[in-house]
Amino acid sequence: MAQQPLIELNDGNTIPQIGLGVWRLEDADAPSVIAEAIAAGYRHIDTAQAYGNEAGVGRAVREAAVPREELFITSKERTSHQGYDSTMRSLDESLERMGLDYLDLFLIHWPVAMHGRFVDTWRAFIDLQKQGRVRSIGVSNFLPEHIEQLAEETGVLPAVNQLELHPYYQQRDVRDFHERHHVAIQSYSPLGSGAVLADAEIAGIAAEHGKSIAQVIIRWHLQQGLIVLPKSVTPSRIRENIDVFDFDLNLDDVTRIDALDSPDGKTLPEPAVMDTLF
Ligand SMILES: NC(=O)c1ccc[n+]([C@@H]2O[C@H](COP(=O)([O-])OP(=O)(O)OC[C@H]3O[C@@H](n4cnc5c(N)ncnc54)[C@H](OP(=O)(O)O)[C@@H]3O)[C@@H](O)[C@H]2O)c1
Repeated sequence: MAQQPLIELNDGNTIPQIGLGVWRLEDADAPSVIAEAIAAGYRHIDTAQAYGNEAGVGRAVREAAVPREELFITSKERTSHQGYDSTMRSLDESLERMGLDYLDLFLIHWPVAMHGRFVDTWRAFIDLQKQGRVRSIGVSNFLPEHIEQLAEETGVLPAVNQLELHPYYQQRDVRDFHERHHVAIQSYSPLGSGAVLADAEIAGIAAEHGKSIAQVIIRWHLQQGLIVLPKSVTPSRIRENIDVFDFDLNLDDVTRIDALDSPDGKTLPEPAVMDTLF
């Protein structure tokens, strides 16, 4: 069974450094896929209201072979639910769909700053954490200026910011900002939604270590202290993606992967322009 390193968050809670991403996982398949992941050693699942599989994730948690307290469950609020009262309601609805008493982490999915509601939403998140219905609170796709605004207007920094981050889109300047403010980064689409898995340079490094390309990419995230959320619905890949604790990338490997950063590497929309209420 894989050893799970824990990262300490700025609110004192801890989070397993590898989480299973479940975007595009069918609700009906969630219980079997998540049971597979738990058996392989995952203790952290990353879902969202918009993924349409909170019910299946909740069922998997309730039926899990390990106690609820050993699992770390994240969901994210739909952009259309932003606002103070609607956020209080939407968390109730998530917990009801999942059949759970609390979430370990609740995130604002996108700032959609042009709609002007993310600060009120954050005030609701702060109250939800005080009520104990959410252990940690965070954001996703937030730019540094959005995080600064939260800090100025509420005095509370998010525990995490979940961002697109992989070898083709490394966000180095943004990472420095988060480190200075003790906001942990979760790398989403850590394999570039599959795009980085055909990379010839990483294939060379993988061959030298006798590991797969996915394992080398996940190891690259881990060695930089990033929380990493690889997604797979395939049992053998789910196991492979957490079987990453028996090797280390050396400085030369890391330098070669660092050199793959590209201005065109992003796969999802820029947070500054993403305005969809979903
Ligand atoms: N906050 C946000 O706005 C946001 C946005 C995007 C993603 N996310 C989170 O990040 C998670 C991961 O991102 P993602 O789903 O975009 O993509 P990803 O994890 O970068 O890549 C997933 C793709 O790679 C394949 N794959 C996984 N492991 C593999 C392996 N060992 N060998 C070969 N292929 C492999 C998967 O195929 P199979 O599944 O078919 O095995 C799938 O097609 C999401 O599930 C979600 O939880 C968050």
